[in-house]
Amino acid sequence: MNSKPSFSTQSLEPSKIPSHIAIIMDGNGRWAEKRLMNRIKGHEKGSATVRNIVRSCREIGIDHLTLYAFSTENWQRPKTEIAALMTLLKKFLKSEQKELADNNIRLKTIGQIERLPIDVQKELNRAMSTTKANDGMQLHLALSYGGRAEIVKMVKDIATKAKEGKIELEAITPELVSEHLYTGHLPDPDLLIRTGGDMRISNFLLWQIAYAEIYVTDTLWPDFSREEFVKILFAYQQRERRFGKI
Ligand code: IPE
Ligand code: IPE
Ligand code: MG
Repeated sequence: MNSKPSFSTQSLEPSKIPSHIAIIMDGNGRWAEKRLMNRIKGHEKGSATVRNIVRSCREIGIDHLTLYAFSTENWQRPKTEIAALMTLLKKFLKSEQKELADNNIRLKTIGQIERLPIDVQKELNRAMSTTKANDGMQLHLALSYGGRAEIVKMVKDIATKAKEGKIELEAITPELVSEHLYTGHLPDPDLLIRTGGDMRISNFLLWQIAYAEIYVTDTLWPDFSREEFVKILFAYQQRERRFGKI
């Protein structure tokens, strides 16, 4: 008999389903290196995990899923790895068209989209426009995303408006700051998951994770399963979120 506890989605408390989950999908390279394979193979395997977890989130009833797919710092990787990641992204967007439509999922992005290759931007725009009426779940892909770059952009946007007399200093509130980030009016993430075991944020959603529950698993992203995901959701539901209160 399997002695491991198995958690079905039925074990989740419906009133405590997080509205927004953010995931740092880390460990693709190590997954491949462990198998003496090229790192790209790990990214390929990782894209299957993306499909699986997106589907799981939709089934569980998550409103927003934000996936860290490529950081501003990732531009410093070898050109061949960047090119392979971009090709994979394009392939993913094409192959997931039907999946997104069938599951009523709207695709959005956060990050410096203008830095991505034109063909990738085109594919993204197409996927965003064909899914824009879908209201089952929003899938936000963080691409060429960095929390610091996002904050700098927000400061510039607000400073410009202040200089032009469009906003008073008194109007600069946490809400206004939030609105000027890529995530705009999205609720902040309730739960932040990082695979690959590293206890760090790596420039992800710095402002937005102020009160996110953090869960780090040693599992490498290509091995991350629906079962483990549900287990994390279950653990999240046992946590007491105090928000500074008692
Ligand atoms: C995460 O996996 C995917 C991206 C950053 C694009 P990594 O490529 O960082 O994998 P590791 O951390 O080297 O194992
Ligand atoms: C974080 O992973 C970025 C993504 C998952 C896209 P990294 O592998 O780039 O982060 P570090 O280098 O371990 O901090
Ligand atoms: Mg990594």
